[in-house]
Amino acid sequence: MSSELNDFITKLAEEIKNAPKRFIEKTIVDDQARTNLYKLYSNDRPAYLGFISVSRDNHVSLVDTITLERQMKLESRNQTQSVSILQAKVKSRIPEAPVHNDCILPLNYSITSESEIKYEGPGKRHGNLACQYPVFIKDIRKSKSEKIEYVTLTWLKDGRWEEHTDEKKVIAQAKLIADLSSRGIPVTSNNACDLVEYLYRYERTNSGRIPVLSIRSKLGWTENMTGFLLGKEYITGEVNSDSSGNSNTKLPQVMFKGKDIGDTELAEGFKSHGDYSQWVSVVNTLFDYPEVIFTIYASLTTPFLELFGAENFCMELSNPTSTGKSTCLKLAASCWGEPDPRERSFIRTWNSSDTFIGRAASVLNGLPLILDDTQLVLRNSGYRRQEENVVTQTVYMVSSGLDKGRGTLGGTATTGSFKTILISSGEKPSFDSSQAGGERARLISLWGKPFLATDENTQNVVDNVKHIISEHYGHAGAKLVKFILKNRDQWPLWKKAYQELSKKMSNIGEMSSIEMRLASYFATVGTAIPIIHAALPELPRDKHIKPILETVWSMAQQEANENEPGLMALKVIYDWFWKNNHKFYSLKDYLNKIQYVGSNYIGYWDSDPSGSWSFIGFDSSLTNTLRSNGFNNPTEILKNWKSKGWLTTNKSSSGLQKQVPIPGADNMKQNLYCIEKSVFYSI
Ligand SMILES: Nc1ncnc2c1ncn2[C@@H]1O[C@H](COP(=O)(O)OP(=O)(O)OP(=O)(O)O)[C@@H](O)[C@H]1O
Ligand SMILES: [Mg+2]
Repeated sequence: MSSELNDFITKLAEEIKNAPKRFIEKTIVDDQARTNLYKLYSNDRPAYLGFISVSRDNHVSLVDTITLERQMKLESRNQTQSVSILQAKVKSRIPEAPVHNDCILPLNYSITSESEIKYEGPGKRHGNLACQYPVFIKDIRKSKSEKIEYVTLTWLKDGRWEEHTDEKKVIAQAKLIADLSSRGIPVTSNNACDLVEYLYRYERTNSGRIPVLSIRSKLGWTENMTGFLLGKEYITGEVNSDSSGNSNTKLPQVMFKGKDIGDTELAEGFKSHGDYSQWVSVVNTLFDYPEVIFTIYASLTTPFLELFGAENFCMELSNPTSTGKSTCLKLAASCWGEPDPRERSFIRTWNSSDTFIGRAASVLNGLPLILDDTQLVLRNSGYRRQEENVVTQTVYMVSSGLDKGRGTLGGTATTGSFKTILISSGEKPSFDSSQAGGERARLISLWGKPFLATDENTQNVVDNVKHIISEHYGHAGAKLVKFILKNRDQWPLWKKAYQELSKKMSNIGEMSSIEMRLASYFATVGTAIPIIHAALPELPRDKHIKPILETVWSMAQQEANENEPGLMALKVIYDWFWKNNHKFYSLKDYLNKIQYVGSNYIGYWDSDPSGSWSFIGFDSSLTNTLRSNGFNNPTEILKNWKSKGWLTTNKSSSGLQKQVPIPGADNMKQNLYCIEKSVFYSI
């Protein structure tokens, strides 16, 4: 035995020692191992038997070693036999077989007039039926992340081509392949060995003709943005992909395989139906409704996040019932797939568990996450705090782009990173139920009737939209992605345009940190819009996009500022002060010779006898006052005020208070939260 062969066999024996159950896979399925073992078998039988004996010692089953032995005998027979027998093309016998045009039957196999697969070569198996129906390998699938190979078998039964995908080890062992009988393949323990043999031969004979697909567990962009998985379709921007085997089309190289049934169902929603032109004709009637069009643009912006290097973000439409919110969400969904949540759609309601929402988000890499009706969280839990948590946590989770490792059905907990835009709806802005300022910076919240009015005419518009998109959907997104892929050379320019617009937008006038962050999301959508129009030239070009964006931007700004918790708290405390100002010692009290007794007061203000004043100072009971007025996290509110420059401070211990001298109190200084009159007046 050569030293190379020796090294190979030693290494192989070591691998088998660590994984005795993968013996067949490592010795027969692997071409190189099988060839090397055959060399050993034919040239150095004692060494071969030594290998078998070591394998048995290492817990390889007797059945597996006999299978290898049988394989070696077959190899030996084929080496000595003439190869002049004509190997028939599958399609010359069964033209509609879903295999590549050039796939051939393995040597010595034929398809009988009854469409059975029969072995007609030498040996005692001569005349055996490998299968009663024509059965072929349709594709082989390799999962990089799981390091597992799968095989798809296809067979003709009762005039229909059936298929089944399973781990490849199933077709390598008779005892496993017999289990496929429950999938409809006519296999019993009688023909199991013959079928294993036939499929093994078929795969070897057609290597290079059987599509080898790479499996991904995420939808949207694949690694390095080489292509885009939209449900079952793999878009590369090149020639049409299909798996029919026609030589003028490219075979798909990548396909989605969900980690669990939830992922698989989500993926099934990304599909197309009806006509693109019908979809366009209805969308073209909607350019007078800025919120509606913005929602469609946001949905189509998702593939650009990765390309621009932009952050994930969330948007929500809120308004009382029957104003067209869900219809807007369906429009957003119709860009990519089935918009009806009652069908197999990727739209979900907030009724879903937060675990499901996290899992769904982590599957998306350039596609929108659409969740309808935040009210349903409330109904689901019947418990208001739950609603706050689920919506707020989801907003944070989406904008972080990370699902914090949750268990899957398979029991594996993974942390998935993803790129998406969450498009949501509800009867009220979710800000109302959240005092977390961070949510405002991550969520474009639009409060208003998306279709501007609620009347009979508008109802007709809404119902027409619903009607058309229920039949015609799933074309625009695919067209856009093809355009993006075809214009790869433009990507650096697009990214630069985004960076410039983002910079420009965050420098418009005086903006709070929240507004600046929201502005960057508008920059993402704003940069994507001209590219969307270039990709979908059927959308109207005469409509001015700038006013649409400006309208939506001012709605978002207003909503972010309006119910901002710091501002709300300040308004509440100001009203509260005027109802309770007798509890505050004043300059007027001092001049009226009223003695300051600390325990009688909860603060000080400098109001003089004429009623003029410049500030109010609150003692530490302010935190309780905030709490009793519904602000459960007073520290957050005080920090919020400080960040806005609303608290006048000095070097007092807490950093939020000021030492204020109390008149007539023997140089006594009180630490107070001080807010100037000008601050109250500015709101
Ligand atoms: N702007 C509108 N004017 C009149 N009728 C409308 C309007 N919007 C929606 N509707 C009616 O309400 C129905 C439901 O629309 P849709 O589901 O989009 O509303 P929604 O705002 O999501 O309501 P809900 O808050 O109940 O979920 C439509 O089929 C239509 O008949
Ligand atoms: Mg609705």
